[in-house]
Amino acid sequence: MSLLNAATEVRLRAYAPYSRFKVGAAIRSVEGNTHVGCNVENVAYPEGTCAEAGAIAAMIAAGDSKIAEIWVIADSPEPVPCCGGCRQKIAEFAAPDVIVTLCTTDGKTRSLTVAELLPGVFTAAHMDKA
Ligand code: THU
Repeated sequence: MSLLNAATEVRLRAYAPYSRFKVGAAIRSVEGNTHVGCNVENVAYPEGTCAEAGAIAAMIAAGDSKIAEIWVIADSPEPVPCCGGCRQKIAEFAAPDVIVTLCTTDGKTRSLTVAELLPGVFTAAHMDKA
Protein backbone atom coordinates (compact mmCIF):
# COMPACT_ATOMS: atom_id res chain seq x y z
CA MET A 1 0.00 0.00 0.00
CA SER A 2 1.27 3.52 -0.78
CA LEU A 3 2.02 5.88 2.09
CA LEU A 4 -0.75 8.16 0.82
CA ASN A 5 -3.27 5.32 1.04
CA ALA A 6 -1.97 4.22 4.44
CA ALA A 7 -2.22 7.77 5.84
CA THR A 8 -5.68 8.24 4.28
CA GLU A 9 -6.94 5.01 5.82
CA VAL A 10 -5.56 5.58 9.33
CA ARG A 11 -6.87 9.16 9.35
CA LEU A 12 -10.41 7.77 9.40
CA ARG A 13 -9.62 6.12 12.75
CA ALA A 14 -8.47 9.38 14.38
CA TYR A 15 -10.07 10.23 17.71
CA ALA A 16 -10.79 13.94 17.37
CA PRO A 17 -14.12 14.70 19.08
CA TYR A 18 -12.92 18.12 20.27
CA SER A 19 -11.31 19.67 17.20
CA ARG A 20 -13.18 17.49 14.69
CA PHE A 21 -9.93 17.69 12.70
CA LYS A 22 -8.75 14.21 11.81
CA VAL A 23 -5.13 13.71 10.78
CA GLY A 24 -3.35 10.63 9.45
CA ALA A 25 0.38 10.00 9.11
CA ALA A 26 2.32 7.20 7.45
CA ILE A 27 6.04 6.54 7.67
CA ARG A 28 8.23 4.29 5.57
CA SER A 29 11.17 3.36 7.76
CA VAL A 30 14.71 2.89 6.46
CA GLU A 31 14.12 -0.78 7.26
CA GLY A 32 11.38 -0.72 4.59
CA ASN A 33 8.28 -1.07 6.77
CA THR A 34 5.20 1.14 6.94
CA HIS A 35 4.01 2.59 10.25
CA VAL A 36 0.87 4.66 10.73
CA GLY A 37 -0.60 6.98 13.32
CA CYS A 38 -3.59 9.25 13.83
CA ASN A 39 -4.31 12.04 16.27
CA VAL A 40 -5.79 10.92 19.59
CA GLU A 41 -7.35 13.77 21.55
CA ASN A 42 -8.23 13.95 25.23
CA VAL A 43 -10.77 15.89 27.24
CA ALA A 44 -7.74 17.38 29.01
CA TYR A 45 -6.75 19.06 25.74
CA PRO A 46 -2.93 19.21 26.14
CA GLU A 47 -2.88 15.43 26.62
CA GLY A 48 -3.89 14.83 23.00
CA THR A 49 -1.30 13.45 20.62
CA CYS A 50 -0.68 14.23 16.95
CA ALA A 51 -0.80 11.77 14.08
CA GLU A 52 2.92 12.15 13.45
CA ALA A 53 3.73 11.32 17.08
CA GLY A 54 1.58 8.19 16.84
CA ALA A 55 3.30 7.01 13.68
CA ILE A 56 6.75 7.61 15.18
CA ALA A 57 5.76 5.71 18.34
CA ALA A 58 4.51 2.80 16.20
CA MET A 59 7.80 2.78 14.25
CA ILE A 60 9.90 2.64 17.39
CA ALA A 61 7.61 0.09 19.06
CA ALA A 62 7.97 -2.15 15.99
CA GLY A 63 11.75 -2.10 16.34
CA ASP A 64 12.56 0.16 13.39
CA SER A 65 14.95 3.05 13.81
CA LYS A 66 14.71 5.83 11.22
CA ILE A 67 12.25 7.59 8.92
CA ALA A 68 12.92 7.27 5.16
CA GLU A 69 9.75 9.11 4.11
CA ILE A 70 6.62 10.49 5.81
CA TRP A 71 3.18 11.55 4.57
CA VAL A 72 0.62 13.53 6.57
CA ILE A 73 -2.99 14.12 5.50
CA ALA A 74 -5.94 16.13 6.77
CA ASP A 75 -9.14 17.67 5.48
CA SER A 76 -7.64 21.16 5.34
CA PRO A 77 -7.81 23.86 2.65
CA GLU A 78 -4.05 23.68 2.13
CA PRO A 79 -1.65 20.79 2.83
CA VAL A 80 -1.64 20.48 6.60
CA PRO A 81 1.58 21.80 8.17
CA CYS A 82 3.03 19.71 11.00
CA CYS A 83 2.98 21.51 14.34
CA GLY A 84 6.26 22.72 15.81
CA GLY A 85 6.52 19.85 18.25
CA CYS A 86 6.04 17.28 15.51
CA ARG A 87 8.72 18.95 13.39
CA GLN A 88 11.19 18.38 16.20
CA LYS A 89 9.91 14.82 16.71
CA ILE A 90 10.36 14.03 13.00
CA ALA A 91 13.86 15.57 13.03
CA GLU A 92 14.84 13.18 15.83
CA PHE A 93 14.36 10.21 13.51
CA ALA A 94 14.95 11.57 9.99
CA ALA A 95 17.97 12.85 8.09
CA PRO A 96 17.75 16.50 6.92
CA ASP A 97 17.15 15.43 3.30
CA VAL A 98 14.19 13.14 4.08
CA ILE A 99 11.04 14.16 2.21
CA VAL A 100 7.90 15.10 4.14
CA THR A 101 4.74 15.19 2.04
CA LEU A 102 1.83 17.21 3.39
CA CYS A 103 -1.58 16.52 1.84
CA THR A 104 -5.23 17.47 1.75
CA THR A 105 -8.02 14.94 1.38
CA ASP A 106 -8.97 16.59 -1.92
CA GLY A 107 -5.63 15.88 -3.52
CA LYS A 108 -3.31 18.84 -2.90
CA THR A 109 0.22 17.90 -1.89
CA ARG A 110 3.31 19.79 -0.82
CA SER A 111 6.66 18.06 -0.43
CA LEU A 112 9.58 19.51 1.47
CA THR A 113 12.66 18.25 3.23
CA VAL A 114 13.04 17.87 6.98
CA ALA A 115 15.63 20.69 6.83
CA GLU A 116 13.06 22.96 5.18
CA LEU A 117 10.38 21.89 7.65
CA LEU A 118 12.48 22.79 10.68
CA PRO A 119 15.21 25.34 9.97
CA GLY A 120 17.46 25.89 12.98
CA VAL A 121 16.69 22.48 14.42
CA PHE A 122 17.88 21.85 17.98
CA THR A 123 20.31 18.93 17.97
CA ALA A 124 22.46 17.03 20.45
CA ALA A 125 25.43 19.09 19.20
CA HIS A 126 23.90 22.15 20.86
CA MET A 127 24.54 20.50 24.22
CA ASP A 128 28.29 20.17 23.60
CA LYS A 129 30.21 22.81 25.50
CA ALA A 130 33.43 22.69 23.44
N1 THU B 1 -2.76 17.64 14.44
C1 THU B 1 -2.02 16.55 14.04
O1 THU B 1 -2.31 15.41 14.44
N2 THU B 1 -0.99 16.76 13.21
C2 THU B 1 -0.70 17.94 12.61
O2 THU B 1 0.22 18.01 11.81
C3 THU B 1 -1.50 19.15 12.93
C4 THU B 1 -2.44 18.99 14.06
C5 THU B 1 -3.92 17.39 15.31
C6 THU B 1 -3.78 17.78 16.76
C7 THU B 1 -5.22 17.97 17.16
O3 THU B 1 -5.77 16.70 17.51
C8 THU B 1 -5.90 18.45 15.89
O4 THU B 1 -5.02 18.12 14.82
C9 THU B 1 -6.20 19.93 15.88
O5 THU B 1 -5.07 20.67 16.22
